[in-house]
Amino acid sequence: MFITDSHIKEELINRKGTFSMNVQVVCNASLIFQNVVARWPGSTHDATIFTHSDLKDYCEQGELGNRWLLGDSGYPSHIKTRNTIERCIGV
Ligand SMILES: *[C@@H]1O[C@H](CO)[C@@H](O)[C@H](O)[C@H]1NC(C)=O
Repeated sequence: MFITDSHIKEELINRKGTFSMNVQVVCNASLIFQNVVARWPGSTHDATIFTHSDLKDYCEQGELGNRWLLGDSGYPSHIKTRNTIERCIGV
C-alpha cells in the first residue's frame, strides 16, 4: 500500500483523531541508519510492514551477508540491542 497525498488524512489519522505512523528503522552498531520504511499508518502491525518491505527481500536473498537482524524488546536477550536503535533514533 502506498500513501498518496489524497490518502494521507484518512490513512494516517487514527481513531483518536491524531496523526500516527509506524516506522520501521534498522541501524548498525555505529548508530547509522541502514534501512527506513516510513509509509504505514500507526495501526499497522510490525510484521505487516516487514512482510512488505525490501528488507525482507534482502534477508531472503542473503544480501545482508553474515549479520543478524534483531527486533523488538519483547525478548530479554534483545534489550541491549534495542538500546542501540533507541539511541540511533535519539541521535
Ligand atoms: C555502519 O554503517 C556505516 C555506513 O554504512 C559504516 O561506515 C560503518 O562501518 C557501520 N558500522 C558497523 C559497526 O558496521
